[in-house]
Amino acid sequence: MSKVRRIAIAVVAVAVGVVALLLVAEQRQGRDAKPLPGTALRVLGPQRAILVGTAVRAAEMRDNRAYRQLIAQQFSSLTPENEMKWALVEPERGTFEFKFGDYIVEQAEKAGQSVRGHTLIFDSQLPGWIAELDSREVRQATEQYIRRVVGHWAGRIAVWDVVNEPLTALGELKRTPFPSKLGRGHIATAFRVAHRADPKARLHINEAGAEAIGPKSDRLYELVRELRAQGVPIDGVGFQVHTNLGGIPPTFVDNLRRFAALGVEIAITEADVALKLPPSAADLRAQARVYGDIVRSCRAVKACRQLTVWGFTDGRSWISELQPGNGAATILDEDLRPKPAFGAMQRALSP
Ligand code: G3I
Repeated sequence: MSKVRRIAIAVVAVAVGVVALLLVAEQRQGRDAKPLPGTALRVLGPQRAILVGTAVRAAEMRDNRAYRQLIAQQFSSLTPENEMKWALVEPERGTFEFKFGDYIVEQAEKAGQSVRGHTLIFDSQLPGWIAELDSREVRQATEQYIRRVVGHWAGRIAVWDVVNEPLTALGELKRTPFPSKLGRGHIATAFRVAHRADPKARLHINEAGAEAIGPKSDRLYELVRELRAQGVPIDGVGFQVHTNLGGIPPTFVDNLRRFAALGVEIAITEADVALKLPPSAADLRAQARVYGDIVRSCRAVKACRQLTVWGFTDGRSWISELQPGNGAATILDEDLRPKPAFGAMQRALSP
């Protein structure tokens, strides 16, 4: 065989290989999203002065076209579900991994969405190396971490959950490893360091199970009041609202109002409504009512400017992954088709 012929065969083989790889990659991306009925949540929300957001997963966005398209079509704000947590961002001390968070920020910027950074100080998903440090070193590592991470995304993250779930069910400050190793002042310090690293980012405290007026939300209220009185740069309070068919507590709106009266903005940050599996049609209707109530609660309080769902498809939700027997907690089913809850959110956001 002549040399020219051998080269031609090689070129064709490489081209066929490249095309095959592209086809496989294309197939792995899956189909386009089926359009969802009615007006997109990201169009309805602003008519009510509410940014409607969702928690997202970077790997899924990269690999699943329909998932990515629906995020761009329906939401105005993205919260990385895990990608900005300490264990993932600084797995080894001093070694930072920003690429997953960067990907989400880039996608959000392309789609004209804002990003809610989640989260700087949280007792879950901490890197293992923290446990080896003494109090002085934990303080140092925490401040360095906040400076580095907030600085990395400075100007690109609208809101940070600076401190996440600091309180126990009874409203005590959690012990491990914060604040036992940091001292009680760590919350104020975290806000101050974050503010210096990105003066434009709005800084929130984000709490779970503090929706009702009661011991836990009372302590949270006192904490926020004290921080404000001390001049700590805290701009807002996030209420997670992980719930089930028990719905939202009757005191929720009054609770939001008393926090708003402190001069802070309010966000609903992680809404979902877990169902027992398999859910009946009546369960799905009842779930829709709860989603509608969540939206209406935010609408009832002027300071409530952001409402984020903790995932938008039952195929990608922490409830089915981490709570055996429960699931179906989101507004779209596993095949990205709308559940009654999606329509309920649209109606509750409509003028
Ligand atoms: O990444 C590993 C993977 O490599 C491994 O194979 C797999 C095996 O279990 O685990 C994967 O890590 C999981 C991670 O999610 C990413 O999927 C962890 O086990 C799992 O614990 C982790 O759960 C997250 C949870 O926070 C941890 O605290 C959930 O996805 C996330 O939705 C959840 O989010 C929290 C908010 O941050 C704060 N508020 C409550 C909310 C729900 O728990």
